[in-house]
Amino acid sequence: MDDLLERLRAGLPAEALITDPDVTASYGNDMASFCAAGTPAVVVLPRSVEQVQHVMRTATALRVPVVPQGARTGLSGAANASDGCIVLSLTKMDRILEISPVDRIAVVEPGVVNAVLSRAVGEHGLYYPPDPSSWEMCTIGGNIGTASGGLCCVKYGVTAEYVLGLTVVLADGRLLKTGRRTAKGVAGYDLTRLFVGSEGSLGIVVEAVLALRPQPPAQLVLAAEFPSAAAACDAVCAIMERGHTPSLLEIMDRTTVRAVNKLANMGLPETTEALLLAAFDTPDPGADLAAVGTLCEAAGASEVVPADTVAESELLLQARRMSLTALETVKSATMIDDVCVPRSKLGAMIEGTAAIAEKYDLTIGVCAHAGDGNTHPVVCFDHLDPDESRRARESFDEIMALGLELGGTITGEHGVGVLKKEWLARELGPVSLELQRGIKQTFDPLGILNPGKLF
Ligand code: LAC
Ligand code: ZN
Repeated sequence: MDDLLERLRAGLPAEALITDPDVTASYGNDMASFCAAGTPAVVVLPRSVEQVQHVMRTATALRVPVVPQGARTGLSGAANASDGCIVLSLTKMDRILEISPVDRIAVVEPGVVNAVLSRAVGEHGLYYPPDPSSWEMCTIGGNIGTASGGLCCVKYGVTAEYVLGLTVVLADGRLLKTGRRTAKGVAGYDLTRLFVGSEGSLGIVVEAVLALRPQPPAQLVLAAEFPSAAAACDAVCAIMERGHTPSLLEIMDRTTVRAVNKLANMGLPETTEALLLAAFDTPDPGADLAAVGTLCEAAGASEVVPADTVAESELLLQARRMSLTALETVKSATMIDDVCVPRSKLGAMIEGTAAIAEKYDLTIGVCAHAGDGNTHPVVCFDHLDPDESRRARESFDEIMALGLELGGTITGEHGVGVLKKEWLARELGPVSLELQRGIKQTFDPLGILNPGKLF
């Protein structure tokens, strides 16, 4: 331990190191509950690529595990510390290095907060779409690590589609450049894509070239109330089948709506079984909302209310973004699933989840990126009640099993971390798992990069 600190100090300014155990403990975990977290030996907050290289060379020399972290808003325990590790927090590397309207790219350090980047590129008339609900806090490095999604993905796609190139410090301190800053490029294997979603297990991302789009017009949102989740899912299918391009298509069930109202007095309609939010940022959003409203009514919506203003629309988005936080107040604890199914199977997924809630006698609130088929069933339970906790864990697992049965994936956007490790193996199967382990071995032969995550 003394040797570790001494060696780290040799290449880092004093303020980059935190050793006070009370403070280092606060870097122990991300926002996932029920994931094992160890005690870090030290927290390092580098400000330069060279400092990250120094940390990795030291870690390699001493065989010390390194757990990279962003804002720790993750939901799978992927950023949780392991005992005796170096927590490598990239939050101080938070510079936007370049915004190029001609090349439509931004070059950023990993600690840049998602919303800060969005606003900065907005000043140039540009748009960085991926928008996780935690966008005001989460960092681009964390978004890359977990391959984050968000609300706008139904139209604009997920983080992976916006990462063009990366600079990565490898386990032994070497610097790797992947990808490009050009509009096209097919030279060699796509290592950039490999790093997106690798959860800090292959290297430390220290710089990213991100693709930008022209800023679309402000979106207008419509809220439609449905007597059942199945009817709301029918509306989602109809909207997508007719070729509409909503910039957001979300479902909040009754439990979620009530929790949001309770938390923030949002005045959402509480009698609805499912609230569907659809948005358009097209040249004539009013016309698109009218067409979608008609489809909602045909699917059985009891009420269709288009927002008149951008401000009203933004309020509805805020209500949706706070869903998870609101559901966390229903009971003392939550477990959040992230199953993504083909959108044609969304109704079966939501109905199946309700059946699981009934079977286990639990409250499971569901909010969903419905247009993506990506559901977040949130199992609410009392963690001091052992029987309820057991039922919560079993129902959480059964929801993933249902997702796989329906041709889906155990995680659409939150990642595997430690929460879904056994399930990753089930989803991948032995051949893919073996190859993935081989990739890990190539990048991290000593197994010091975020050990215990993913596999
Ligand atoms: C959301 C987070 C939980 O969709 O992914 O709000
Ligand atoms: Zn989500």
